[in-house]
Amino acid sequence: MSQFHHVLDCADLPAGKSLAVDLDGLSVLVCNVNNEYFAVENRCTHQGAELQGGRIRNGMIACPLHGVLFDVRNGCGKGPLGRVPLRTFAVQVVDGRIEVSQEAAAVPA
Ligand code: FES
Repeated sequence: MSQFHHVLDCADLPAGKSLAVDLDGLSVLVCNVNNEYFAVENRCTHQGAELQGGRIRNGMIACPLHGVLFDVRNGCGKGPLGRVPLRTFAVQVVDGRIEVSQEAAAVPA
């Protein structure tokens, strides 16, 4: 059974922004896409750069180092440099609190 940990409050993360949090020693990037929240590992699968600070548009984050785009909703990258998807984490919002689990996010249909 998945265990969720409170990592941020919704008020701390405006739409289009992301923040890195620690989840059991792992750096996880929590992203606000049109007030829906998603979490991915804060480490690019191309060459390991931190994704924090990358611009988010239309649910895609641009890696700050080489600009590869990853969909924060399902972890999928674009193009040959993004062929290895990001690890995703399940997110739930309870009373304005963002909670993240080590469990993989359900992939949207
Ligand atoms: S390290 Fe992220 S695109 Fe190269």
